[in-house]
Amino acid sequence: MVRERKATVGYPIGMNQRAKNNKNKDRIICFCYSVPESVIIKAIQDGCSSLMDIRRETSASTGCAGCSEDVKKLIRKHWKPTEEPSEPEGGQNG
Ligand code: FES
Repeated sequence: MVRERKATVGYPIGMNQRAKNNKNKDRIICFCYSVPESVIIKAIQDGCSSLMDIRRETSASTGCAGCSEDVKKLIRKHWKPTEEPSEPEGGQNG
């Protein structure tokens, strides 16, 4: 008996499941890994402030990278730093 291979071969486990769980039907940003916009926005709100952060946390933009510009747009739109940069202690002369 020849079994049909699923399209998920080669992708990290859970990526297709994430697409199935996308009940809000929000916009898919990364088609390679089925990462919806809401997942990327949540990652940004949780502290991801760069494309590398988003890649590490969501796997978005780790395939063909065709979604990189859309991910960067979301970062620019939704990133809100929570703290002011702190000044080094002791001033210039230590
Ligand atoms: S569409 Fe996101 S990596 Fe290909």
